[in-house]
Amino acid sequence: MATAFITGSARGIGAAIALRLAKDGFNIALNDISEAMFEDNDIIDRIRAEGVECEKFICDVSSYAEAEKTVKAIKERFGSIDVLVNNAGITRDGLLARMSEEQYDTVVAVNQKSVFNMSKFVGSIMMRQRSGRIINLASVAGVYGNAGQMNYSATKAAIIGMTKTVAKELGSRGVTCNAVAPGFIKTPMTDKLTDEQKAMMLNQIAMKRFGEVEDIAGVVSFLASKDAGYVTGQVIEISGGIMM
Ligand code: NAI
Repeated sequence: MATAFITGSARGIGAAIALRLAKDGFNIALNDISEAMFEDNDIIDRIRAEGVECEKFICDVSSYAEAEKTVKAIKERFGSIDVLVNNAGITRDGLLARMSEEQYDTVVAVNQKSVFNMSKFVGSIMMRQRSGRIINLASVAGVYGNAGQMNYSATKAAIIGMTKTVAKELGSRGVTCNAVAPGFIKTPMTDKLTDEQKAMMLNQIAMKRFGEVEDIAGVVSFLASKDAGYVTGQVIEISGGIMM
């Protein structure tokens, strides 16, 4: 059975993607930064209830050494890694004039370096397998920019460049690499925004509703499927039509 590895998947979009890929028949390697993220959380049971195997692998995706160890452990446990979803991400918002060096560096490490780490280690397994799917979580902030998110939008724009580069480097080995760029999706990450910020966002969305995590999981499921075998280097916006 094929295996999917989803980073930052204890909750939010990552958990929804993991559950959807389990329904699609993949064994699931979950990941998050700490054991605590899986306490009072039934995601593992819900995935196993789909009749697939599921294990969690705790690691800080921004650490090169931890990423290497984790990928090795997943390969040993499941035998192959067929789908990698680089989902883990954080925000540390602030206007440029007030943004600290720490705020900038932390977001770059977690959102961007993690994609280098995991794509490198999983990519080398996929090249040897001569097949694989890498799906990266970008954001509309990386396409259009967003006031208060210089750090975050930098990482999400970088992910678009990284996606196209990986697509070019690994394409001849049967590995595709695509990105999804969500707009405003209801998760713990966006719960933090003020009502005023939420109202401003809603106004710009053609469909006049915020996205659900399942809206992202469905497109990721397609990109991981056989039907998307000739799709690579693409960025699919899932935003209900924001800023067209
Ligand atoms: P979330 O905050 O609900 O979930 C992110 C998960 O990543 C958490 O479980 C967190 O513990 C984990 N994580 C954080 N740092 C980590 C690290 N160093 N190592 C391992 N795991 C770590 O966020 P959400 O909303 O589910 O976002 C998922 C992805 O989607 C992120 O990359 C985010 O930038 C992207 N996205 C989200 C949007 C939204 O509206 N919610 C919009 C555009 C993109």
